[in-house]
Amino acid sequence: MSPRQRQILTRIATGTARRAGYNQRMSELTITRPDDWHLHVRDGDALKAVLPATACQFARAIIMPNLKPPVRTVDDALEYRQRILDALPIGSAFEPLMTLYLTDNTSPEEIVRAAMSGHVKAIKYYPAGATTNSDFGVTDIRKCDAVFEAMQSIGLPLLLHGEVTDAEVDIFDREQVFIEKHLIPLVSRFPKLRIVLEHITTASAAKFVLAASENIAATITPQHLLYSRNAIFKGGLRPHFYCLPVLKREEHRVALLKVATSGNPKFFLGTDSAPHARNTKETSCCGAGCYTALHALELYAEAFESAGALDKLEGFASFYGADFYRLPRNTGSITLKKENWTVPEEVTFPNSALVPLRAGEQMRWRFAL
Ligand code: DOR
Ligand code: ZN
Repeated sequence: MSPRQRQILTRIATGTARRAGYNQRMSELTITRPDDWHLHVRDGDALKAVLPATACQFARAIIMPNLKPPVRTVDDALEYRQRILDALPIGSAFEPLMTLYLTDNTSPEEIVRAAMSGHVKAIKYYPAGATTNSDFGVTDIRKCDAVFEAMQSIGLPLLLHGEVTDAEVDIFDREQVFIEKHLIPLVSRFPKLRIVLEHITTASAAKFVLAASENIAATITPQHLLYSRNAIFKGGLRPHFYCLPVLKREEHRVALLKVATSGNPKFFLGTDSAPHARNTKETSCCGAGCYTALHALELYAEAFESAGALDKLEGFASFYGADFYRLPRNTGSITLKKENWTVPEEVTFPNSALVPLRAGEQMRWRFAL
């Protein structure tokens, strides 16, 4: 028995186990229903194909606006929200939390409208050309200072895809260079701006967020907690492990796992589940994105278990994001069971199929329906 298991058994025996606890064999874990603070659900038939998986596990999700064309105005966001609600399984209480896609032309007035809409919870910054559907992204972050000023005074969070796009910067360094070149100056121009550095992938990003003031937080994906960049190249090129920011060295994965499982409320769950049809992944120029909505919590549970920190999963998955967004914590609960199962080779997706992360491989935890 590990020291961690012994500690939990002692807590149960002495009646000090937390409500969100474990049975004695740690074969079951019940936590407050979580939220996904970074999610791509696309639109149309693709939306209908992927949304039920998220609605099954999560109460709410921050919906990314990188559609084609992107969600740029409050009207766009409200229409998209309605399409999401229409695509939900009957009886689902899932709540989409909308975002706007920041462009060079976003106005401070649109920010005020967003804040007043009740449904737009954040503004997403993509550097132009950084990733999937980012052609409308910001060409120079300083062009948005009037918008940041409005966001800072209203308290509307800015969600950052924190990578530079300069072709001469090594792809594995793009997050760190973004922090040095753009994020540190942005924070000094707008010290009270509420910022989420999305899908962090490096020890330097974790360090930056740890040292920053309490208005700065980060989301972490399951793939960046479970895999290093070796996974992309294991026995050949594996497109389903390719996402942006790209997986990094093992030392970075270890640093991310450390902060995610530390109980620090600056770090919370954001899957970045990003569905791409099989034929657009298994091709000569593969799109970036890992599909994890199907088994998101099971993946996170495995990562937290590997660190002996299952007791920290609930804060990360169910509390800290809601607290950062100043939204109420959820009330219901979900249960994960220790049970082996095999991730399907593919799931249904329009005109093709969708390959989940770790397709055909074993999982150790199973979401109890
Ligand atoms: O891997 C990614 N996929 N990173 C992103 O930033 C975008 C996303 C997508 O939309 O497919
Ligand atoms: Zn994303």
